[in-house]
Amino acid sequence: MSALFEPFELKDVRLRNRIAVPPMCQYMAEDGVANDWHLSHYTSLARGGAGLVIVEATAVSAEGRITPNCTGLWNNQQAEAFAPIVQNIKAAGAVAGIQIGHAGRKACANRPWEGDDHIAEDDAKSWQTISPSPIAFGANLPRKPKAMSLEDIQRVQADFVAAAERARDLGFEWLELHFAHGYLGQSFFSPYANQRNDQYGGSFENRARFLIETVRAVKKVWPDNLPLTARFGVIEFDGNDEQQLRESIELTKRLKAEGLDFLNVSISFSTPQANIPWGPGFMAPIAERIRKAADIPVASAWGIDLPQLAEHTVAQGQLDLVMVGRAHLSNPHWPYETAKALRVEKPSWVLPAPYAHWLERY
Ligand SMILES: Cc1cc2nc3c(=O)[nH]c(=O)nc-3n(C[C@H](O)[C@H](O)[C@H](O)COP(=O)(O)O)c2cc1C
Repeated sequence: MSALFEPFELKDVRLRNRIAVPPMCQYMAEDGVANDWHLSHYTSLARGGAGLVIVEATAVSAEGRITPNCTGLWNNQQAEAFAPIVQNIKAAGAVAGIQIGHAGRKACANRPWEGDDHIAEDDAKSWQTISPSPIAFGANLPRKPKAMSLEDIQRVQADFVAAAERARDLGFEWLELHFAHGYLGQSFFSPYANQRNDQYGGSFENRARFLIETVRAVKKVWPDNLPLTARFGVIEFDGNDEQQLRESIELTKRLKAEGLDFLNVSISFSTPQANIPWGPGFMAPIAERIRKAADIPVASAWGIDLPQLAEHTVAQGQLDLVMVGRAHLSNPHWPYETAKALRVEKPSWVLPAPYAHWLERY
């Protein structure tokens, strides 16, 4: 028996296995509108057999895009473009999820393969970035953001709510709020980005406020029977890790009390000075700690793409779901190959019949 290929149930959602495709930006949209690239990409991922496919970081407003080519969900045209994507993911037997977010001070960048740096302020494509405080990330992202006013904060929270409503109406069944990776949500929690001295900065309570309020507001519009989840960077790897983990556990408990159902445990990425101990599955024990201490189901990504390792993280109770990113880019049928490697009985059941029928025949 494989733990990885056991179904997973959360609220009214049932995943056919514990494999999830994490959000992965394609940087291929125009004006935030998904197109044929996204349709074929997400369709092939869902047909590959994962239980959950989470659509890439989709901006809640134009200013919240990481690059000019990120998808968005702030108007109806963008929503309509997602409709066939949701339909195809579901038709392939996967659950359709989406990550919504705002890139904060890391917004307005060139695509990774076109420099991965901030677009110059005098470029016609450029826009004003915003963040809790006027502090640049640094390194390849040196632009100083505008400090958000209280009105800005309310506006962005309203944008999160409007995007969640559109996601709901489209039939997405798993919502992930992007509070990780040094983008806006993470920036409110991180002292590297947040030096405010009003009610949104300083103490733990104040740095947590934006995240708690956003979950509370989204909860009001997101259906009670569907998972409301977040991705959060619980650790920076800057030498201050124990204190940060304690705060992250406390934050997770608070978010859970507001109605968060699940946490995708990730890395903070709020300073270029971090010293990240990259290695296969290095985040799994950290996710396990959050899972136990905050009593919430979790997933994590980052190099959990060897079949035995993925199986181990679920079987040992470290993770409820394994997020497999780049391995899915290299092979959308990763779940099938993994089922074979783990000697799951009839591994081809994760694939659609026109493929599966032939694979165990001769
Ligand atoms: C092309 C690409 C795009 C990504 N875009 C996002 C994103 O939109 N949101 C997010 O939270 N993480 C994003 N990530 C991080 C992935 O979700 C994942 O955490 C990372 O690839 C590590 O998992 P892996 O080792 O299985 O690839 C991206 C990663 C890649 C490779």
